[in-house]
Amino acid sequence: MKVSAQDILKESEKTLGLIAKHEALTEEERAWLTDKTAAYYAEHVNPGILEYRKAVSTEYISVEWADGANSFTDINGKTYIDLLGGYGIFNVGHRHPKVVEAVTHQLKRQALHSQELLEPFRAILAKLVRDITPGDLQFSFFGNSGAEAVEGAMKLAMLHTGRKSFVAAVSGFHGKTLGALSATAKAKFRQPFLPILPDCYHAPYGDADYIESILKSADEVGNDIAGVILEPIQGEGGINVPPDDYFPRVRELCDRYGALLIADEVQTGMGRTGKMFCVDHWGVVPDIMCLGKALGGGVMPIGAFVSNKTVWEQLFPEPWLHSTTFGGNPLACVAAIANIHVLLEEKLPERADKMGNEMIAELRALRRRFPKLCLDIRGKGLMIGMEFPTDAIGYEVAKGLFDRGVLVAGTLFSAKTIRIEPPLTITSQELGSAVDTIEKVFKEVNARHFESKRIPVRK
Ligand SMILES: Cc1ncc(COP(=O)(O)O)c(C=O)c1O
Repeated sequence: MKVSAQDILKESEKTLGLIAKHEALTEEERAWLTDKTAAYYAEHVNPGILEYRKAVSTEYISVEWADGANSFTDINGKTYIDLLGGYGIFNVGHRHPKVVEAVTHQLKRQALHSQELLEPFRAILAKLVRDITPGDLQFSFFGNSGAEAVEGAMKLAMLHTGRKSFVAAVSGFHGKTLGALSATAKAKFRQPFLPILPDCYHAPYGDADYIESILKSADEVGNDIAGVILEPIQGEGGINVPPDDYFPRVRELCDRYGALLIADEVQTGMGRTGKMFCVDHWGVVPDIMCLGKALGGGVMPIGAFVSNKTVWEQLFPEPWLHSTTFGGNPLACVAAIANIHVLLEEKLPERADKMGNEMIAELRALRRRFPKLCLDIRGKGLMIGMEFPTDAIGYEVAKGLFDRGVLVAGTLFSAKTIRIEPPLTITSQELGSAVDTIEKVFKEVNARHFESKRIPVRK
């Protein structure tokens, strides 16, 4: 140990006291926690994060502290309307009472699993996932994140087809573990780790002809493709919505060339785009579907890959070919069960569709007023992107909104596209107030960059 046990006990005890505190923190406590957070990020997490966060933070260091429904509050009591939704985690809102209740009940009985006995809630969750997913999708493996879901999906596709290669899309994002990273398409994230999985080809997103030519030539040279992995709408690549015939055509191509279609619904799933799953817009049934982010109801981390019986049969004789210690743990599974319940009970996919259409219409009206500043508004349901001419202008808009209590963020690929992915429970009033704030910020940024300064006329 680098310091005495006594010092460690003192600091951890003070921290546990703050965690347990129900009443508001005192000024001294807030200052202590803010200082420690900034100092320990710099010394023990990554100072680069502090630099990066400056881009959206205000004059003071913003430390998050509490959340509920459609907003969160920082340690100084400033409340933000959450238009980011944790990059797509909070579909049922922040700490939905039914999700919190289920997790609390489970926590009081059993937190983690024995790893040996059968777990009732893993089984029931797998059945419910069967019920809500399209077509013949039937079996689920639960892990802890989206990237893990993608890893499992890629392994399963290799196992089922006996092939090793994949097709993914330019601007696609599937996570940063080594397998998922081969499908992810940003050079900055991949290059230091190449060659990762060899033979992962990237086709321009939305171009089914291009995928056809890869599958055809791979077929001819014997470098057969195990799977085509695609996001139904690209999230991190810039909220890119494909043409309506894209997924149906890719489905048909996969069938023709014996490749599996893997739909990465980690960000688009659980009602985000106005249907329970985005592929439902086109009536397409993938062979494997990846889930994550919002699956755990915004309370517990959980991811999953889901497939049909024919594909899954590869795992029947050897179920431990793919496993992970915490995957399918009871706390995460009960959260996901409550999440599915809330999504259906509150008709949140339908709500995302309605509110999304309204929001897109309002933002497009705004765009028409600021055509040089805002180049595009696109999306489906409550997965919306606003595009600006440069990264710097995107940051300026994000910072302006943050200063006024509205949280948004750029995508992982660029700050040119600001994403809007609020909880699907967001109210019309909250969205209206957010649009008013966006209008104010657009006015300001537009005046700075695109309005010519009037030169006073001398008389
Ligand atoms: C479509 C998609 N797939 C996979 C991932 C990776 O998920 P995680 O960050 O939970 O590993 C993400 C994360 O943003 C994603 O958007």
